[in-house]
Amino acid sequence: MSTQSARTRAPKVAVVPGDGIGQEVIAQGVRLIAALAPDIEVEWFDLGAERYLRDGTTLPDDVFARWQAEFDAVYLGALGDPRVPSNVHAKDILLGSRFRLDLYINQRPIRLLDARRCPLKGKGPQDVDIMVFRENTEDLYTGVGGTFKEGTADEVAQELCIATRKGVERIIRAAFAWARANGKTRVCMSDKSNAMRFTGGLWQRTFKLVAAEYPEITASHLYVDVLAMELVRAPERFEVIVTSNLFGDIITDLGAILQGGIGLACSGNIHPGRLSLFEPVHGSAPDIAGKGIANPMAAFLTAGQLLSHLGRPELEARIGEAVRGALLADEVTPELGGTLSTAQVGDAVLARL
Ligand code: NAD
Ligand code: IPM
Ligand code: MN
Repeated sequence: MSTQSARTRAPKVAVVPGDGIGQEVIAQGVRLIAALAPDIEVEWFDLGAERYLRDGTTLPDDVFARWQAEFDAVYLGALGDPRVPSNVHAKDILLGSRFRLDLYINQRPIRLLDARRCPLKGKGPQDVDIMVFRENTEDLYTGVGGTFKEGTADEVAQELCIATRKGVERIIRAAFAWARANGKTRVCMSDKSNAMRFTGGLWQRTFKLVAAEYPEITASHLYVDVLAMELVRAPERFEVIVTSNLFGDIITDLGAILQGGIGLACSGNIHPGRLSLFEPVHGSAPDIAGKGIANPMAAFLTAGQLLSHLGRPELEARIGEAVRGALLADEVTPELGGTLSTAQVGDAVLARL
């Protein structure tokens, strides 16, 4: 397993453009990485719906083994194609990577860069600046479950919600540790323990135990339904949110809109010190795929997270500033009211760098 401290060679990034607009935005993201960090070695992997439809390949064991042995990060576009209704390739590649690489932290910033992009009345960048820690290896995502009498009138379907003490504790600890390291004073845990007695109870007890180790940080709790409401009513209440896998998925799409749109939301699937995977929050957007109008900014901010993971936080900050500049200058794609193409936004952001 490659680690930052042990590395003597140039960092290597595996690029999986994936499906739909994933390919369009990742092409621009790789351009950005090449411009900012020319020493980083990039290798493209042809994995996604096209490949799956061609020869049935999803994530081969030998590719996975090479990632683990040779690479420091994976940069992924998005996976999902209407021609693969089961989405089996996405499950193997995206969820498979999260599980097999044990990427237990899904770190998703909700950061408003341009006040005009926020749909909330009177809210600006100082009000919307939240780091979400989404648990990424458990909950309703493990695929543990099954059906009985499938396809009959008596069908039973079951999906198990799994929470382990180890899994819950490490994501909560990651949230508090990040808060301490970044001068934040508030961590909010969100669950549905009023309805989900067993997993909710584990989250509640573990949160109290870990919070006690961080006396300078105010630990609070909200049920996830109230969190959804409060994020819209008063996002300034939140600095750090820690929650389970499914709730984190939903809350961060809500958060994406608070920061100006899904085309601006970035994410890292992280196991500290190990090979980690970085992807925009958005999907393959079949409705606009192939038109060259997808917003590449989420992919740029994601590249920033990746570079920070490789030990270059100053590049993440520069990318953030360049994206902010482009937003303020209305150098944006049509979904944000602009007229620029994906590649033209790439030009505009690169010019600012
Ligand atoms: P989506 O995020 O692809 O699209 C939702 C809406 O947002 C669409 O109207 C789309 O046009 C718009 N949009 C998304 N990204 C945009 C961008 N960069 N610029 C401009 N507009 C953008 O969500 P969906 O439609 O529910 O999912 C489509 C497919 O992607 C599904 O197969 C889904 O499972 C998959 N998906 C994959 C990932 C991933 O691989 N990380 C994430 C989410 C969804
Ligand atoms: C995300 C996506 C995935 C998730 C899907 C594609 C399985 O929505 O990364 O947010 O739910 O985690
Ligand atoms: Mn999602």
